[in-house]
Amino acid sequence: MSNPVQFNEKKIPEDLFHEMRKQNLLRWPTGKDVHFEDAVKRQKELPNNKRLDLVMRRAVLENRCLVQPRGGFGTFDQHKNLMKVIDEEGLADIVPTTTDSYTRNEQFALAQKGIEESEKMGRSLLNGYPIVNYGVLKASELIDSIEKPAIMLTGTAMPKLTGEISFAAGYTGYLGSGVAYTTSYIKERAIEEGIRNYQYLDRLSAMYLEHGVELHRRQPGFLTGTNIPPCIAIIVCIVDLLLAVEQGVKNYGLEMGETLHLVQDAAAVKACKELCQEYLQLKGHKDIFTPVTLLHWMGAWPHDEAQAAAMVSYGGTLAAISGAASVTTKTLHEAFGIPTPKANAEGLRMTRMAIYLARNIRLDSMPEFQSEVDLIKREVRPIMNKILEMGDGDVAIGTVRAFEAGVLDIPWSPNKWVKSQVMPARDVDGLLRIFDPGKMPFAKDVMEFHRERLALRAEKENKPFDIDLAVSSVYELSEPLKNLMTDKWFN
Ligand code: 5AD
Repeated sequence: MSNPVQFNEKKIPEDLFHEMRKQNLLRWPTGKDVHFEDAVKRQKELPNNKRLDLVMRRAVLENRCLVQPRGGFGTFDQHKNLMKVIDEEGLADIVPTTTDSYTRNEQFALAQKGIEESEKMGRSLLNGYPIVNYGVLKASELIDSIEKPAIMLTGTAMPKLTGEISFAAGYTGYLGSGVAYTTSYIKERAIEEGIRNYQYLDRLSAMYLEHGVELHRRQPGFLTGTNIPPCIAIIVCIVDLLLAVEQGVKNYGLEMGETLHLVQDAAAVKACKELCQEYLQLKGHKDIFTPVTLLHWMGAWPHDEAQAAAMVSYGGTLAAISGAASVTTKTLHEAFGIPTPKANAEGLRMTRMAIYLARNIRLDSMPEFQSEVDLIKREVRPIMNKILEMGDGDVAIGTVRAFEAGVLDIPWSPNKWVKSQVMPARDVDGLLRIFDPGKMPFAKDVMEFHRERLALRAEKENKPFDIDLAVSSVYELSEPLKNLMTDKWFN
């Protein structure tokens, strides 16, 4: 497919962007209901309690950790009920709308069939809300039925229509980014194309800002269902952040999956905050708001609800102690599929209680915490600097070239343009380390440290020092309790 627009980090010029929007909105009939002036008016009329940009800023000022779940159903009535339950019974600070897989893949005709079947059967046959098919007015009704800000969760490398429709309806947040999502979800789509699609969405957010409406954009962390060491998550956070900021975004959140090691998660949040600001400064950007969110465990979950309950509440504890601005919650149903509204609300309250209990605890005075923060920074900087160098300072070009060379790499990515040679595993103390760096240019002493910690684990568990250390680290937490050698913990 030929693309006449040059690929680089530069802000999409206004004339060209208007043309791109016109074409985009023609792709499905509901696109014609997006009128930018009306959309700005609608956004300006929202009360402050429904503005995610403000709610995130306040959370950081007040040192609070907000709670937000995921959630979406295939019919309007069911989805509206879910949003109300999440708001009122779950006490969520942020109410989500997860789209269905057809919408994520822009197969709107199939989504339409799903809606019709779901309405006929009286139950959701889609795994999320098909916001494009229902259109702007229906989405506005959803926003009117809750008292919190709403965020779109779209799990897609193709956000252009969902973005237009949701912003026009009064959603003030949109989760997704070019690099993280394209490397998390899609086999065939080139990273360049994912970046271009999100440059559109970020440019659109910036256009709202130019008209006095700040929106919250957010990078989604990784959804590969595997272990991602903090340094790799943070490098991708920085890359996606810089790409968005070049388009004019000023309010941009970063997400990371929890490693479930308290010290490493707290260190990751601190390092992420500081490194994001460090690279913004390096690129000459000031006054960019970059709150960090932790995600409840993104790997495989146990089927036993008692085990899952421990992971939900511990995930809240980690987020509170790490100083994250929010946590995205899961439920006791995670191993089985989409949770009921009631289970979703319970996951929120369980997490919120855990946050409350841990709210006064921080690790700043702990030497192991500080040394982890320093280690993560020493891991991130050489890779990030190399990415920028490979693009002659341009982060879009540098990112694509770095993936080609394996300088930037993601473990177990489904995307065929990612080498996936890098392999993480848990070390002797349960922290995620790099077992095999692939072609990522980590410093020699850093790699020696990682290998040493992993060798100690192999020795302790009497296992060979091989790739199985990485694989077993992925499935470990979904194992039944009796397989987890809980009787051997403290030897
Ligand atoms: N409702 C609730 N949670 C969902 N997830 C995906 N779709 C939905 C939905 N419709 C959650 C699952 C999954 C995570 C990436 O998103 O918990 O693990």
